[in-house]
Amino acid sequence: MNDTTLKYFKQQLPGLAGGYTLDVPDCAIKLNQNENAWDWPAHLKQEVFERVRDLPWNRYPPFTPDAFVGKVAAHIGAEPGQVLVGNGSNELLYSVFVSTLERGRKVVIPQPTFTVYKLLADLLGADVETAGLDDELQYDSAALEKAAEDAAVVVLATPNNPTGSVIDPTDLEHLVNTSGALWVVDEAYFEFHGETAIELTRSCRNLVVLRTFSKALATAGLRFGCMVCHPEARPIFGAAKLPYNLNIFTMAAVETAIENAVTMKTRVEETKRERDRIARKLREYTGVKVYPSRANFILFETERSPRDVWKAMVERGVLIRDVSGYPRLGKALRVSIGRPEENDAFIKALEYAMTVVA
Ligand SMILES: Cc1ncc(COP(=O)(O)O)c(C=O)c1O
Repeated sequence: MNDTTLKYFKQQLPGLAGGYTLDVPDCAIKLNQNENAWDWPAHLKQEVFERVRDLPWNRYPPFTPDAFVGKVAAHIGAEPGQVLVGNGSNELLYSVFVSTLERGRKVVIPQPTFTVYKLLADLLGADVETAGLDDELQYDSAALEKAAEDAAVVVLATPNNPTGSVIDPTDLEHLVNTSGALWVVDEAYFEFHGETAIELTRSCRNLVVLRTFSKALATAGLRFGCMVCHPEARPIFGAAKLPYNLNIFTMAAVETAIENAVTMKTRVEETKRERDRIARKLREYTGVKVYPSRANFILFETERSPRDVWKAMVERGVLIRDVSGYPRLGKALRVSIGRPEENDAFIKALEYAMTVVA
């Protein structure tokens, strides 16, 4: 790129410094993106195909897909007038940030956390403060309260990715009620934890809750998420969304997922049991520190080089996430919980890595 091309861009663009990429070698066992380890059963996929086959593909979907939003709202326990839907919760996070952040405004993003928050905040030129997680990477509400004082927005994930930590609901309620900032609470891993702030959105005008179908509902490939806010705020956030953002295929799949959520829930229980089994196993190794997790992944630290451990595991066909480049996580790796046999393969590959990496 020559100098003339560079002049087109706003100077704060993260892409000018290389942007965000993910190293994804081809491995038989993929435990690096906190996905659901179980694909949809064939009969449910067939049901989606049949629903979509009979719809007119030449027409736009409804301008506001009210019936669809009503089903999503009922599923998550919100009123339809509080819900916006999008291609993954990332798209809605984008709408919220575009509506609230700009140069000279502060956003609090406790670190370490999901990379996309800072990426978008940087894109918009906002000032980022990273307070909010203590030395054990647990939420520190006093630090959050202080950081929020002059902030426009605070964004936090509960359970947090990659730490697995959760915020106490009473602390969160106090923070939202006493703060002038907008609180964006990302509940991407809600189903593995079970606590939600959705109820608070009915009364708090400064709260947004994000949900995704990418994790417990096994729909990452189709891209679907939603957000819940106070009914007065919804049209304002909605105006920062592209029209017709959801396609008919995604909507048919999400309706099918909702109707079959009970079946999918058994996988959530199995994932939680496996998470606790693997955490116990990891705690048996000397030199390995395991962070408590309420999500479908585990963060752990090793005294060996995390990059070398990661590479040795890739050689054995097991892909986990090297998060040692994240702030404060120089020694850490993250493993997503898979099917029992995949988790056993993870343990075997880790044991191998610990014998070959100094
Ligand atoms: C905290 C958090 N929020 C959101 C997402 C992505 O959600 P979506 O697939 O709905 O965009 C992830 C994915 O890893 C995540 O960890």
